[in-house]
Amino acid sequence: MNKLKLFSGSSNIPLSKKIANYLGTELAQGKVMTFPDGEILVKVDEDVRGCDVFVIQSTCHPVNVYLVELLIYIDCLRRASAARITAVLPYFGYARQDRKDEGRVPITAKLVANLISTAGADRVLTVDLHAAQIQGFFDIPVDHLMAEPVISSYLQRVHLAEDMVLVSPDVGNVKRARRYAERFNVELAIIDKRRLSGSDTVIEHIIGNVEGKNVLMVDDLIATAGTVCNAAFLCKEKGAKSIRIAATHPILCGPAIERLVEAPIENIILTDTIPLSQKAQEELDNVTVLTMAELLGEAIRRIHRNESVSSLFLTG
Ligand code: R5P
Repeated sequence: MNKLKLFSGSSNIPLSKKIANYLGTELAQGKVMTFPDGEILVKVDEDVRGCDVFVIQSTCHPVNVYLVELLIYIDCLRRASAARITAVLPYFGYARQDRKDEGRVPITAKLVANLISTAGADRVLTVDLHAAQIQGFFDIPVDHLMAEPVISSYLQRVHLAEDMVLVSPDVGNVKRARRYAERFNVELAIIDKRRLSGSDTVIEHIIGNVEGKNVLMVDDLIATAGTVCNAAFLCKEKGAKSIRIAATHPILCGPAIERLVEAPIENIILTDTIPLSQKAQEELDNVTVLTMAELLGEAIRRIHRNESVSSLFLTG
């Protein structure tokens, strides 16, 4: 394949630099400028003609700005005659609107998939999509990595609590929680959650036993933290000994930080698909951030060399 070039959007430069470091390269030179009215201009400062280009951008807060920046980056690279463009989205925003769950609503995950393809991406590389079937919203290849190998090997390294139980904070996370439970050979409990609004959820039941156990709760993301905090309070009420949360994408918006500070959670394991805000870094003293740079870097290396990436899903 032609020369590999790695560009970074503005959303997560620390992760992009770590990926470049893993690949033994530097980030390619590009500039993002904003006009006084908010329009974005991207200018690539090096020749990409015939290159195998990867552009890294998490579509996290401010989601609309970073999404448009990614689209403009891709358009710019296409018009500069890159041979192949891979959009690397460590966090794929808008994924939660992935179906019509009531009348007269959009399917925004599909719209964003269309926009990325139309802009000119040839492939997508991403991590822990909110729903795996979003891969099918694209008509271009999607490599979908999971943070699970990274989180599991961290847990195995630090120490796996005895009497552990895996807790899924809602029905949507059962598959993920079951995979961890099978990996660690422990039992699974499931929480029955009902969403009242974008920031509020109620939970009433827990299926399974957490009494006297060390809980590991897994989720793909923490947004307002209502889900994991309510679940943590319920587990405590049901007699859990300790509670640890592992979530891939730290969106941490709205009341998330205050909720996480109040909740009976000993350790919050997150990844760096989204950078932590200054406030989160200052106020959350029980957070461990694991990097996805090696897994993403290795996937980029293999895509570039036309090698299989599927073995990356199983390691750890
Ligand atoms: C739900 O389907 C997701 O897996 C998360 O549990 C949810 O989106 C988290 O949102 P919040 O932190 O606002 O409760």
